[in-house]
Amino acid sequence: MQDPMQTVEESAARVRARCSLVPELGLVLGSGLGFLGDQVEAATVVPYGELPGLPVSTVPGHAGRLVLGRLSGRPVVVMQGRFHFYEGYGLAQVTSGVRLLARLGVRGLLITNAAGGVRADLHPGDLMLINDHINLMGSNPLIGRNLDALGPRFPDMSDAYTRALRAQARAVAAELGIPIKEGVYAAFTGPSYETPAEIRALRTLGADAVGMSTIPEVIAACHMGVPVLGMSCISNLAAGISDKPLSHAEVTETAERVKAVFSRLVLGLVAKLELPPRPGTGAAR
Ligand code: HPA
Repeated sequence: MQDPMQTVEESAARVRARCSLVPELGLVLGSGLGFLGDQVEAATVVPYGELPGLPVSTVPGHAGRLVLGRLSGRPVVVMQGRFHFYEGYGLAQVTSGVRLLARLGVRGLLITNAAGGVRADLHPGDLMLINDHINLMGSNPLIGRNLDALGPRFPDMSDAYTRALRAQARAVAAELGIPIKEGVYAAFTGPSYETPAEIRALRTLGADAVGMSTIPEVIAACHMGVPVLGMSCISNLAAGISDKPLSHAEVTETAERVKAVFSRLVLGLVAKLELPPRPGTGAAR
């Protein structure tokens, strides 16, 4: 197995050799929003295949490349395509991209996904600010020897979806006239969708939406001290809530339908989020 520390350093060195821009914000874009990577100006594009430790995404609709440049005027790095546990990667691989973004110097991570609505008031097409998560993936990307250079052995997760960024996100959404909801995201590994009994159990546990991604990346970001803002596009009612069977087609159709409004919100957030200074630099925006 590759040493995750060595691969993140080597990947960061390769990106820096191609591009001198220091990104302030990292974006991990889920279903339907990958196209925002194409709107990055003065872009440097690095295919994942050129970055050691980064697997190549196997899901249709998820390109596999890192895009650095300016979005809404701000220096960003976009992961166009993400990795899922259900693709068969280990969690070290699933989180390798986020670790790379953090190593490139981002002061915040904006992460989006598609999710099934568990709470009764969450309907297909709704946008949900993630305020916390429940990890039901049965694993954790930090299992194994701690990478002390990245973060502590036992990272605190009590503000994983940074409160201050959530408050700003609510304000930006209100300013843009985009209604958003808020809730707890739970993830199983997938790739099978949940059973109706699992969804009833999730409701009892306090989950509002369910998906198959995001949690490992957020744990890795939190470990490295990177503030996270997470948003779900509710793409379908979770299993058993309606009689309709679940399908990936519905997920992509809803993502396509809300793409315009979701991307407007994401671009607004990219423009306006005030991020904390990089530790040690005192640089604020
Ligand atoms: N369950 C799990 N993952 C999902 C769903 C769902 O209902 N919708 C989109 N991703």
